Amino acid sequence: MRILITGGAGYIGSVSVEAFVQAGHDAIVLDDLSTGHRGAVPEKATLEIGSYGETDAVVGLLRKHRIDAVLHCAAKSIVGESMTDPAKYFRENVVGGIALLEAMRTAGVKRIVFSSTAATYGMPERTPIAESDPVRPINAYGETKRDVEGAIAWYGHGYGFRSVVLRYFNAAGASARNGELHSPETHLIPNVLAAAEERRELTLFGDDYPTPDGTCVRDYIHVEDLAAAHVLALLATDPADPRTGPPAGPCQPLICNLGSGTGFSNRQVVAAAEAVVGRGIAVRIGPRRAGDPPVLVAGADRATEVLRWRPRHGTIEEIIGSAWAWRRANPNGYADPRA
Ligand SMILES: NC(=O)c1ccc[n+]([C@@H]2O[C@H](COP(=O)([O-])OP(=O)(O)OC[C@H]3O[C@@H](n4cnc5c(N)ncnc54)[C@H](O)[C@@H]3O)[C@@H](O)[C@H]2O)c1
Repeated sequence: MRILITGGAGYIGSVSVEAFVQAGHDAIVLDDLSTGHRGAVPEKATLEIGSYGETDAVVGLLRKHRIDAVLHCAAKSIVGESMTDPAKYFRENVVGGIALLEAMRTAGVKRIVFSSTAATYGMPERTPIAESDPVRPINAYGETKRDVEGAIAWYGHGYGFRSVVLRYFNAAGASARNGELHSPETHLIPNVLAAAEERRELTLFGDDYPTPDGTCVRDYIHVEDLAAAHVLALLATDPADPRTGPPAGPCQPLICNLGSGTGFSNRQVVAAAEAVVGRGIAVRIGPRRAGDPPVLVAGADRATEVLRWRPRHGTIEEIIGSAWAWRRANPNGYADPRA
């Protein structure tokens, strides 16, 4: 297949590009390099620099590369920023997302896998969270993802778009080639490892949550396992595949959580990182961050049963170990992100 991957120069996108290339597909990356890195795009993929929000240009790309399906991985995704600058998130994620769908409609490309998030659930009523649980985001980022999920569903109903919506929990770890490098970095594991490298104190946000050790509990899934799920999801959008609808007529998105089904507290992550790096990491407790649910753990049975997806990187030490190995091998990150 010929696949357009928006955000393929970013963290999850680039590892997914590796998986598509490995599986024998042609990968065309569309990325504006706003938070991604040119060096993250594997040599066997084609990089087109631009925004997925430019409908006419995207129509041209879809036609030029004879694209069969789209993995829409690009987005703005910093929760705190989405609260102080929601306009940016609605413009980029929602207006841009609709522009992409319109380009696909114009070019007759009707297969899409969408990178969504556990943030769509907001404060969950129970754990693990099932896909059928209420979707009530508590930050602008999650709201924009819910909006795009909704648009995709209606494009399925009205125009026969076949889709898989993947709600990721916490992506973590690295492939041998690509790792997590954001600026600013808001994710726990890279921040724990940076604190270890720089021998400085790490701040955890709150230790008075109703969890065993008082710190928040999250579900970490290896980025290579996410990448493998993308390949399976794209295959499920085949017009002959009943998992995403009948061969013609209205289709419903297949929505799957992607997580390990196991939660680790912030303190457990720090302890695992200490074991991986072989030294202690000093921790201070800061105030809670607004809108952090105490526990977010995926019920991922649907991905297992319907997509036949099995995460292969089981332990938190393995996940953190791969992130640490990547950082050690790439102390300067991607040498020149914009070159
Ligand atoms: N990292 C996580 O734990 C996590 C969890 C849940 C959901 N997600 C979702 O997964 C996706 C990827 O996340 P990530 O952590 O890899 O982020 P990232 O910032 O590393 O990657 C995003 C990529 O999209 C590109 N991009 C942004 N706006 C663009 C535009 N208008 N046109 C073209 N390219 C554009 C960026 O340059 C970057 O390469 C996002 O949609 C995010 O919301 C991530």
